[in-house]
This record gives sequence, structure tokens and C-alpha cells, in this order.
Amino acid sequence: MNETLKTISQRYSCRAYDGHLPEKEKLEAIALAAVQSPSAMNRQPWQIIVITNKSLIEEMDAEGMRILAEAEDKTTYERFMNRGGSVFYNAPCMYLILKQPGTDMDVGIVSENITLAATSLGLDSVICGMASIPFNGPKGDEFKKKVGFLDGWEFGVAVLVGIGKTKGKPHTPDISKIRYVE
Ligand SMILES: Cc1cc2nc3c(=O)[nH]c(=O)nc-3n(C[C@H](O)[C@H](O)[C@H](O)COP(=O)(O)O)c2cc1C
Repeated sequence: MNETLKTISQRYSCRAYDGHLPEKEKLEAIALAAVQSPSAMNRQPWQIIVITNKSLIEEMDAEGMRILAEAEDKTTYERFMNRGGSVFYNAPCMYLILKQPGTDMDVGIVSENITLAATSLGLDSVICGMASIPFNGPKGDEFKKKVGFLDGWEFGVAVLVGIGKTKGKPHTPDISKIRYVE
């Protein structure tokens, strides 16, 4: 197996971080991988905001959990309580991907480039759709200002990156989902 295929096979969603910030060079290499993603008509409809401000990540995490706790349906809240009571799992770094309307496919590719780059550098990561919660809540405008959300841009998705407290396992690939027409 070559290095790229090995990296793909090793990636898994990490949901417990030791909180230590990876080296700046690694964070920059991951950001570069993000903007090397392909995009429809090479429009590159993204902005990548690398957030390493610990207190800001914690503040958004607490607000996310507060919003989930207040929701009528407690299922999601309970799921995150069972995972340690945090939506961001003590991750020291969040790659926030902003998008232009209607560019989910492009954003998805960026998030995968980020997770694979992180894996290739020995780091752990998880794509985090839940990061939209604090930005869409009552303190959303405050958080958008703090991270420098640009006018006309929307939340795409986020990727949390750091060092796993314990290492998880990649999911077992379901090869029954593959068919060949020859
Ligand atoms: C668009 C998208 C959003 C996701 N959002 C979250 C999230 O908010 N929190 C989380 O813990 N995992 C999130 N995940 C990770 C998935 O749960 C995970 O990829 C899936 O369970 C398969 O596990 P694996 O990544 O370890 O193979 C997200 C994945 C994708 C692709």
C-alpha cells in the first residue's frame, strides 16, 4: 500500500484530545492542504479560519452544550454527555471552513483534505458539523465577530485537530457498498 492509501486507511474520528497544540508547521501544512482542494470551476468558494484560541474554543463549546441542553429533544445532548460533556472534545485547534451558498460538495472535499493531512502528520481529527450550533445560537454574532466571519459567507463545516488522548480505530470498510460494472 502506498503512503496515501495508508493515510486514508488510518484516519478515524477522534473524540478525545489531550489538549496540546500541535506544532505551528503542522497546522500550516494542514491549512495548505485545505486550500489545495479541487473545487467546481476552480472557484475555491471557501475561507479557512484556523482557531487555536483555547478560551474561545472552550467558550463556543460551553455555548454549544448549553443550547443542546435546552433543546426539547435531549437525545443529542445525552449523546454528547456520554462522550465527555463536550462538543469539541478538548481539541486545541479548529479549522473553520466558511463557504459560499450552495457549495457543500467543495466544503466536504476541503474537510477531507484537512483530516487526511492531519492523519498523515500523525495527528488526530474529526469533522465537526456540530460547530454550527454556537454560530447559529443567540451568541452567534459575537462568535462570528471574534473569529472574523466575512460578510456574505456561511458556516460550511469545521474540523477539529489535535493529539488523541487515546487512539481510536478506523471503521471497518463495508465492501458490499462497492459494485463493478465490467
Ligand atoms: C459532514 C460531517 C459532519 C460530522 N459532524 C460530526 C460532529 O459534529 N461530531 C462528531 O463527533 N463527529 C462528526 N462527524 C464524524 C462522523 O460521525 C464519522 O465520520 C462517522 O461516524 C464515521 O466514523 P470515522 O470517521 O471514524 O470513520 C461528521 C462527519 C461528517 C462527514
